[in-house]
Amino acid sequence: MLMGAFFSRRFNPDTDIPDLSGKVILVTGGNAGIGFAVIEQLVRHGAKVYMGARNPERARAAIERLRTSVGSDNGQVVWLDLDLSDPRKVQKAAEEVMQREERLDVLINNAALLLVPYAKDYDNVQNIVMTNYMGAYLLTRLLLPLLKRTAQEPNSDVRIVFVNSARHHSCPSDVRFRTLDDLNRDFEDTMFPQLLRYAMTKTMQLLFAKDLQRRLDAAALPRAILCLAVDPGEVNTEGVHAYTESVGPVLGPLYRAIAHLTFAAPATGALGPLFCAVSPVPRAEPLVYRGAYLDPPRSSGRAARWRRAGSSRGSCGIRRSASWGDRDRAASGVVLGRLGCGWCIPYGSV
Ligand SMILES: NC(=O)c1ccc[n+]([C@@H]2O[C@H](COP(=O)([O-])OP(=O)(O)OC[C@H]3O[C@@H](n4cnc5c(N)ncnc54)[C@H](OP(=O)(O)O)[C@@H]3O)[C@@H](O)[C@H]2O)c1
Repeated sequence: MLMGAFFSRRFNPDTDIPDLSGKVILVTGGNAGIGFAVIEQLVRHGAKVYMGARNPERARAAIERLRTSVGSDNGQVVWLDLDLSDPRKVQKAAEEVMQREERLDVLINNAALLLVPYAKDYDNVQNIVMTNYMGAYLLTRLLLPLLKRTAQEPNSDVRIVFVNSARHHSCPSDVRFRTLDDLNRDFEDTMFPQLLRYAMTKTMQLLFAKDLQRRLDAAALPRAILCLAVDPGEVNTEGVHAYTESVGPVLGPLYRAIAHLTFAAPATGALGPLFCAVSPVPRAEPLVYRGAYLDPPRSSGRAARWRRAGSSRGSCGIRRSASWGDRDRAASGVVLGRLGCGWCIPYGSV
């Protein structure tokens, strides 16, 4: 079995991202944090990028900032009205992309709620599950026909990237995805309910990434679609700031100072997602990178090393368990089936 160190790769976006002219890429949650930094590089290298964002003002302001930093001679950024917490809006956003574009080269599922209070807005499913897992799942499934069509093109390089988190390792082993109650579990009987809710959603996303790769491989497309998941590392973003503000006047400033001093800047946090999305390396070595979960480098910096997670934690970096695949299927099937909103897609139809 190959060890993680064999998968180490140096990656510098200035020199290692090829010309992306003609490519169409969708980044969810691109108006802030890591997603914004990812889009900045993609546009700088010539791509047409859809910024999936739910708030028009924040999207407009982010696009202004991008135009200033990247200039107008490079790629293009377009706002896509996308709210992952409401499946109806996800469906609308996917339809808009399908209508407007002949191709979609890369989908980067980046948007997420981090450590947030428990809340439910739509369809009786807690928001963090809707946003981090169900919304991304639905968006990916709805865009698959376009992604698959693009994969028929000569020299295509279609990828689906999931920005995940090492926090998925904190997911308790007794989680179940069989019923709505399982998905709405609040973990309020534990010391870290916010962390565990987040960890549960990131585990669900990883399971989906791995299973989707398996299904796409079985579909035997002329040119394989690569699914990759990546932990960007600890990054000092607005989502982190929001958490520090939520913990009160004593701990808040302390956490915020720690984040400022020890967490990476968003541009560094973007390296892993960019490597997965557009570095030529994963395409050159598909057997290594297909369905992989990448760990962040041990040291920070632009020439950091991105490596596949070690084999001891399973090929996707999650603890091995015979029942994980079934749990994932249950998660999608139960919830999408029960909501009955007309947008339900059976899980088994990739
Ligand atoms: N920061 C870290 O230390 C860290 C560590 C490990 C993994 N990650 C992962 O990295 C990714 C990006 O995190 P970040 O730190 O950059 O977070 P962030 O600063 O909070 O940005 C999150 C983005 O997601 C968007 N978003 C949230 N809910 C949404 C919804 N319902 N529909 C559409 N967009 C929505 C936000 O939009 P609004 O501006 O409208 O809220 C924002 O653009 C996440 O997947 C996160 O789990 C981050």
